[in-house]
Amino acid sequence: MKPYYQDDAVTIYHGDCREILPTLDDIGVIVTDPPYGLGTLPPSGGRKAGTMGTELKDLAWDKDVVDWLGLWGGPCAVFCGGQRVAELVSSMSPDGMLIYVKSNPSPFGSSFEPCFTRGFAGRPAHFTAYNAANGQKHPTQKPLDLMRWIVGRSPDGTILDPFMGSGTTLVAAKRLGRRAIGIELEEKYCEIAARRCGDMSRVDADDEPLLAMMQGGEPCE
Ligand SMILES: C[S@@+](CC[C@H](N)C(=O)[O-])C[C@H]1O[C@@H](n2cnc3c(N)ncnc32)[C@H](O)[C@@H]1O
Repeated sequence: MKPYYQDDAVTIYHGDCREILPTLDDIGVIVTDPPYGLGTLPPSGGRKAGTMGTELKDLAWDKDVVDWLGLWGGPCAVFCGGQRVAELVSSMSPDGMLIYVKSNPSPFGSSFEPCFTRGFAGRPAHFTAYNAANGQKHPTQKPLDLMRWIVGRSPDGTILDPFMGSGTTLVAAKRLGRRAIGIELEEKYCEIAARRCGDMSRVDADDEPLLAMMQGGEPCE
C-alpha cells in the first residue's frame, strides 16, 4: 500500500487499520490510544454528541483490533477507557500498566487514564501532564511529553500506532530517534500528523505552552 507520507523515520498510512494491519511486517512495538467507545454512553454520559468525531462512528475497532492484539502477542502499550477494560485485558493479557494523571482534568471527566502494557520493562508507574485545551489539533490529542515518556520506556523496534489521530506517538518516537508507523482513518488527521512529523526542526506551536505548563514534568514512580 502506498504511504500517505514517508520520511526517514516515519511512515503514515491513510485507511482503516483493520485492513492495513495484516499487510505490515515490520512491527516492533504497538503504542496506541484507540477510540474508547464513549459514543456508546447515553447522552447523559458526559460527552456531547459530536465532540468525539470519528469515535462515535467507528466502534468496531474493539473486537477486531483487540482480538488481533491478542493473536499478535508482541509488546504493546494501549490506552483504555473504563468501558473497554474487560475486553482489552482478556484479549491482550497485559503484564503492566502506565497511568496518565491529568493535572487539569475536566470537571466531568476522569482525572487519570490507564495504559495497559505487555512486554515493557519496569514496574507500574504514573506520569502527570497538562493537556492543552487550546491549540489542540485533535479532540482527544495526548500530551507530547506523556507519549515521549511511554515511547521512551518501550522495547526496541519500530513503533506502530494504528489509531494515530494527530500523530503524537509518531512525533514522540521521531524525537527519540525511533522509527514509527501510523495509521489513521480520517485524512485531515493524516495531513496534520504529516505536517507535525515533517517539520521537526521547530517545537510544535502546541508543545511550547504544554512544556511550560507541565506540572511535575519528571516521571513519578
Ligand atoms: C483517540 S484518537 C487518537 C488521538 C491521538 N492519540 C493524538 O494524540 O492525536 C483515535 C483515532 O483513531 C482513529 N480511528 C478510529 N477508527 C479507526 C480505524 N478503524 N483505523 C484507523 N484509525 C481509526 C480516529 O479517527 C481517531 O483519530
